[in-house]
Amino acid sequence: MSDIATQSALVIGVVRETIAGEHRVALVPEVAQKLTAAGVTIVMQRGAGTAAQFPDNLFKTVEFVDSAQEVFARADLLLKVQPLSAEEAGLLKVGATHAGFMQPHNHLAAVQVLKDRRITSLAMELVPRISRAQSMDALSSQASIAGYKAVLIGANALDRFLPMLTTAAGTIRPAQVLVIGVGVAGLQAIATAKRLGAIVEAYDVRSATRDQVKSLGAKFIETGVTAEGAGGYARELTTEEKDKQQAVLDARIAVADMVITTAGVPGRAAPKIISKSTVEKMKTGAVIVDILAENGGNCELSIAGETVQHGAVRIIGPINLPAQLAYHASEMYSRNLFNLLSPAIKAGVLSIDWTDEVFAGTVLTHAGEIKHEPTAKLLAHS
Ligand code: NAI
Repeated sequence: MSDIATQSALVIGVVRETIAGEHRVALVPEVAQKLTAAGVTIVMQRGAGTAAQFPDNLFKTVEFVDSAQEVFARADLLLKVQPLSAEEAGLLKVGATHAGFMQPHNHLAAVQVLKDRRITSLAMELVPRISRAQSMDALSSQASIAGYKAVLIGANALDRFLPMLTTAAGTIRPAQVLVIGVGVAGLQAIATAKRLGAIVEAYDVRSATRDQVKSLGAKFIETGVTAEGAGGYARELTTEEKDKQQAVLDARIAVADMVITTAGVPGRAAPKIISKSTVEKMKTGAVIVDILAENGGNCELSIAGETVQHGAVRIIGPINLPAQLAYHASEMYSRNLFNLLSPAIKAGVLSIDWTDEVFAGTVLTHAGEIKHEPTAKLLAHS
């Protein structure tokens, strides 16, 4: 059954992000040009790309307007980075389309407005993790930035070199880096720490990551625990498994100069992997960068957006790391959006084929219905 949503004379709207510290923009000049070539009109709020180092004059094919309200009111397809607020959703045209991160569980009021206004919303975090959709996978593109940046933040906080150095003042031993969680962010963290010359170890409950770790020249920590889950994600571990994993990991954490934690299970609070007592056994001057801090933290002591000094150890809990590399984060995110949407844009018209598993998996609301079951349930019980 192919329910085809059609609109004509497509106007794509892009607004300046308003959340504090959000420097990314949903559209970069290269992608704007491609969309214009596909026959659409682009209306952008003045200065929308400035914080990402894409000033207005780089967008040659775009019409600029002063107010976000005007963009919301004119857009047939609104592109955004951060989730829409309920108020913003209320400014969109009835029946318009929206694509961006949506964090629906945290923005139920906005979801309700999108539903009521029969807006089609495509939630970038719902893009299925299948090979065909890799070029559209914004969670991955942004997580790899987070992994990279986490290592740089850690390196900067460390009172040591990362590489081995042979100098006239003697030999400097390389730093020991431990990466916990080897998904997209973890792999990029390993690669970055290796490039900086550290000795890198890594651990993940999915044994499938062993070869990936080794191929990056790092050592995989064997704990005898594995937790392959559905869809390429990890399942939650049993208590016995956690204890066994912990004993081995604690010993490795104790000798690390820098620990990067990226261990997440979608839809759940971050597993607690580094306890207060483990931190207390760490080396003097060691640094933990916990990119899960906002989600409860892999380290018991992490506080989102803060640096905690616990004894001689610093625990950094950075939030929205992709926004700290806004130029490339925007470029990658904008390409993800283009790769998702461009097959549905033909001769300047948006025509989504809902039999396509990528669109069917990504849609949050459409035609007055909530298409994402967990969100529908949450809203029903709210
Ligand atoms: P991913 O799902 O690709 O990787 C997570 C990895 O953690 C998986 O390989 C999984 O097997 C592993 N894992 C789960 N439980 C574990 C455990 N108990 N012990 C060891 N490994 C375990 O996710 P991705 O894309 O790499 O992102 C990682 C996390 O980073 C996400 O949960 C996300 O919330 C967070 N993140 C934070 C950002 C920030 O700015 N602070 C930015 C982007 C992502």
